[in-house]
Amino acid sequence: MVDADAFIEEATAEISDEVGDANAVIALSGGVDSSVAAALAYRALGDRLTPVYVDTGLMRKGETDAIRETFSFMDSLRVVEAQDRFLDALSGVTDPEEKRNVIGEGFIREFEREAKEADADYLVQGTIYPDRIESEGNIKSHHNVGGLPDVVDFEGIVEPVRDLYKDEVREVARALDLEEVVSERMPFPGPGLAVRVVGEVTREKVEVARAACHVVEEETEEHDPWQAFAAVLGKATGVKGDNRVHGWVVSVRSVESRDGMTARAQELPWKTLQRIQSRITGENENVARVVYDVTHKPPATIEYE
Ligand code: XMP
Repeated sequence: MVDADAFIEEATAEISDEVGDANAVIALSGGVDSSVAAALAYRALGDRLTPVYVDTGLMRKGETDAIRETFSFMDSLRVVEAQDRFLDALSGVTDPEEKRNVIGEGFIREFEREAKEADADYLVQGTIYPDRIESEGNIKSHHNVGGLPDVVDFEGIVEPVRDLYKDEVREVARALDLEEVVSERMPFPGPGLAVRVVGEVTREKVEVARAACHVVEEETEEHDPWQAFAAVLGKATGVKGDNRVHGWVVSVRSVESRDGMTARAQELPWKTLQRIQSRITGENENVARVVYDVTHKPPATIEYE
């Protein structure tokens, strides 16, 4: 376990050292990792830090408003409306790693543009230790923003929480007095809902995934999972009213874990599962079926792609 107060002092000094008198941008995602990185960088740099939130169209329901509220104390917060750019770039892309690369590259381009505007030479990222391990082990090319530092037009990339596990990041978040909705928030992948839509990313599938994830987060809250969400798998036959429908199959996943490196599928009560099923099929006319994923990690990963 990390000594949070000592870590905050050290990380703040290290950011000051690395960035010197220059300006920096930080990529915010709404998650605890980037929020902690932002809070540390803000301590070190103050107004020389421009926090940037890119709305890729692949974010959680209500995320943009939540970010505006959480970071309202930072005047320089920039919200980039990039939904069309990301969804257009993903059109026709079906390979999971290629999807990640398209999104990683898209983020980098957005940040280069924002950095130019903010006259910033440094990019701060909320990469944590498991992200690096999984990328280096070629399990998945994890990225919070990039994963493409060799083609990035920045003087330096600063990763203040790069050696921490998720539970340690949460401890630092509490020590930094970040709101509980941020410090205790369940993880959300950098590529967003794109990895919760199997195969091609379309606007329709993303909308179904976003709405279903919201239902799962609400309905599982009392069981305190480490992470819970829904993914759109493919199509299957169902019947709604008097009509046969060929609608989406939505998979619900709820896992217990310490750090995301391994995970156990959670034993949710049947009542909870049925409520989730009923809400997802009821609120989305194009969903035909809801299934529950009982696979641990390994052999599955937590996300679908
Ligand atoms: P997997 O699917 O690899 O996920 O078992 C382990 C944990 O990491 C999250 N995840 C990501 N986080 N960038 C991130 O910042 C990514 O590209 C990424 N991919 C997966 C996932 O949600 C889970 O908590």
